[in-house]
Amino acid sequence: MTLNVRPASLDDADAITVIYNQGIVDRVATLESTLRTPAERCEWLAQRGLRHPVIVGDANGEVVGWASLNQFNPRDAYAHVADFSIYVERGWRGKGVGTALLARLIDLARTLGSHNIVLAALPHNEAGLALYPRAAFTRVGIYHEQGKLDGRWVDVLLMEKIL
Ligand SMILES: CC(C)(COP(=O)(O)OP(=O)(O)OC[C@H]1O[C@@H](n2cnc3c(N)ncnc32)[C@H](O)[C@@H]1OP(=O)(O)O)[C@@H](O)C(=O)NCCC(=O)NCCS
Repeated sequence: MTLNVRPASLDDADAITVIYNQGIVDRVATLESTLRTPAERCEWLAQRGLRHPVIVGDANGEVVGWASLNQFNPRDAYAHVADFSIYVERGWRGKGVGTALLARLIDLARTLGSHNIVLAALPHNEAGLALYPRAAFTRVGIYHEQGKLDGRWVDVLLMEKIL
């Protein structure tokens, strides 16, 4: 497989929507429960600032994953902290796409002047919990019963990497 990791364009909105909605429906990746539309993702892509890029993994013209650097907190004191999202298409998981996307995100965060990069994950996300320590993220702790998904309390695991 040849994977080209490149900046996302508005033309990628359809694929990004499908891949994000898979992650939402799976109930393992995120506390988000509202499905997205291509129009909404186009607007989301168009509004990204320079410090919060979106990238895609492109396998011979097929978008098989996407990732983004996100604002952690709007206060100036947190300007050096980047949060991120990462989603791989179901049929492409476990093939190295997430590893490649995360490596590029970390490079981008460094280049854009971030000092640390953080994430919040669901503790039962086995793929995520395998991926992040391999990129030298360390565990900060757990918010207990922070989310409520489908009527059940969900813990949230926090991790960080100082750049
Ligand atoms: C989490 C996710 C981004 C990981 O990307 P991926 O392309 O599947 O992961 P990779 O193939 O790069 O694998 C990374 C490592 O995790 C391991 N891994 C992958 N899937 C795994 C799983 N289901 N269980 C245990 N380990 C797993 C791999 O073996 C690999 O380790 P290695 O380098 O020692 O072989 C991807 O599975 C995904 O998009 N999941 C749904 C959305 C999601 O959970 N996003 C993260 C929200 S916090």
